[in-house]
Amino acid sequence: MTVQCVNNSPSVALLLPDAAANPLLQRLAQQLRVPIISQLTDAGDVHLRVHKGKLQLVQGVGKTRRIAQLNFNQSRHRAAGPDPLLKAMGGAGRSVLDLTAGWGQDALHLARDGFKVCAIERHSSLVLMLQTAHQQIEDCVLHQRLQFVCADAAKDVPILLAEKQLLFSPFDVIYLDPMFPPKQRQSAAVKQPVVLLQALSGAYSDAEDLRLLKQARSLKAQRVVVKRPLKAAPIGCFAPSGTIKGKLVRFDIYTANLDNEA
Ligand SMILES: C[S@@+](CC[C@H](N)C(=O)[O-])C[C@H]1O[C@@H](n2cnc3c(N)ncnc32)[C@H](O)[C@@H]1O
Repeated sequence: MTVQCVNNSPSVALLLPDAAANPLLQRLAQQLRVPIISQLTDAGDVHLRVHKGKLQLVQGVGKTRRIAQLNFNQSRHRAAGPDPLLKAMGGAGRSVLDLTAGWGQDALHLARDGFKVCAIERHSSLVLMLQTAHQQIEDCVLHQRLQFVCADAAKDVPILLAEKQLLFSPFDVIYLDPMFPPKQRQSAAVKQPVVLLQALSGAYSDAEDLRLLKQARSLKAQRVVVKRPLKAAPIGCFAPSGTIKGKLVRFDIYTANLDNEA
């Protein structure tokens, strides 16, 4: 059985005529089942377009338009001090299965630090952007440390593993960064890529977090690492065996040899 890519609401299409000139994009769009359209039916739709040779995810029109694009060759900005994500991974050079790729920033960060990362994302439009950015990576060592796969990570991982479709298996660490619960008051400074992710992902769901955590723990890796807002409760009723705190977020760690169920 081959896993089908999931194209969630709102539906996202690749806009012609820009896309027509790019056979690679057309092939990926076909593979990932992203429809190709010649004009927008609703100006508010989220859509993909090729602008000045760059693939962009766009929502809206005019001044309120939001645009996000991915470039994995951009130089890295490192925050001062210890890196809580790297610390949470529990050792250098490990193989990581990222169940929630999003814009691929954590996967890229880890790969730049020597980890081998297979990252899964369920939105085919995001995967189209991730796979395009991946193909454009100039550093071949970095390129070889990454894979982006389109699937529902809460359901399809066992099938993908059985079909040997995931590079770097067996995995030392399973990583989860689900959408955060919405804040009471959203800051005006929330970045465009985050707003676009929220538009794509729809309503936040505790149940989805729990589904992902259960899947992650069932894979029997040495540890599961979960990114959480600093003050949020752990997902579901599972108390972590350890936590690493950063300035804005924390990483809950579930190790394989502890029974953490509350
Ligand atoms: C907060 S973002 C992750 C951001 C990412 N860590 C980064 O550095 O860019 C969460 C992502 O998980 C994806 N996601 C949520 N549930 C999923 C599932 N069951 N399977 C695959 N992806 C999922 C969402 O579509 C969203 O893109």
